Amino acid sequence: MRTDSTQRAAAEPVGQAAGPLLPPGDVADAVGTFLRSSPAGRRWDVETAFDWAAADADRLTEGQRSAVAFITYIEDHLPGYFGLYSRRFPLDESVDLDTFVHNRELYHFTVRWAEEEDTHARALFSYQVAAGLSESARLRAELGREGRKPFTLPHEHAVSLFAYALVQEKATQIYYQQLRAVVDEPVLVEVLGRLSRDEARHFTFFADLVERSLRRHGDRVVEPIRDVVAGFRMPLADTMRGYWRWALKIADAAHYDHTDAYEHLIRVVNRAVDARTDRVDELTRFVAACRTPAASQAS
Ligand SMILES: [Fe+2]
Ligand SMILES: [Fe+2]
Repeated sequence: MRTDSTQRAAAEPVGQAAGPLLPPGDVADAVGTFLRSSPAGRRWDVETAFDWAAADADRLTEGQRSAVAFITYIEDHLPGYFGLYSRRFPLDESVDLDTFVHNRELYHFTVRWAEEEDTHARALFSYQVAAGLSESARLRAELGREGRKPFTLPHEHAVSLFAYALVQEKATQIYYQQLRAVVDEPVLVEVLGRLSRDEARHFTFFADLVERSLRRHGDRVVEPIRDVVAGFRMPLADTMRGYWRWALKIADAAHYDHTDAYEHLIRVVNRAVDARTDRVDELTRFVAACRTPAASQAS
């Protein structure tokens, strides 16, 4: 596995993500479930949800401060993530009518998702400034230096992009929960609680798409899902300076390992498939073997 931050991800395929795509009605059902999971009364905003005046970085350890700075970078890269969905699920005449209709349904999710992730970025920015971890102008410039770097994924298939997001959302949710459990600063605890609940809903949506894809298309989507785990890299791993050193440090601060998210992918696969095939069995074995303890024993 490559471990230095200077190497870039493989080139991104151009244009529409490859099928087999879900029928638009399936996407619409998944989007409806997602939107119902955050009715107006349960939504939150940066301006009113937290007691910013009480935020206090003096109550954080050095590792916890570093973790907050790190996750702010990850959340603040939202324009890159949103841009990828715009490129790979185009909403114009470059795609045929059926594909457009699929993409149009997905877009109902993508815009809400983007709004929530942008809110996460703003919440962490506000926390850093309010708690005295950073200062607005400096933080804006620091985030901008990383934020303008490209975000790409090498995957050809739509289901691969969904499986990638499934793992990434679950990994983020686990990280926020575990960091929250060790932090002794009420405002940050509250922020991490809000964020982890949103990430759990995002995970559920992508899990729904992957599960529906397996049910509809069976063995045809096994290989694209396997590819995601085979080459998995967290966002910004290829572009952010010092990513790996920093990632190890923050993992330590929250007793975290992103491969913990893989068991949730295995669960999705097992739930989706009634009649198991050799290819599905091979996929679940492979994903399990990619968990860190198994991987480190093998090397
Ligand atoms: Fe987020
Ligand atoms: Fe998310």
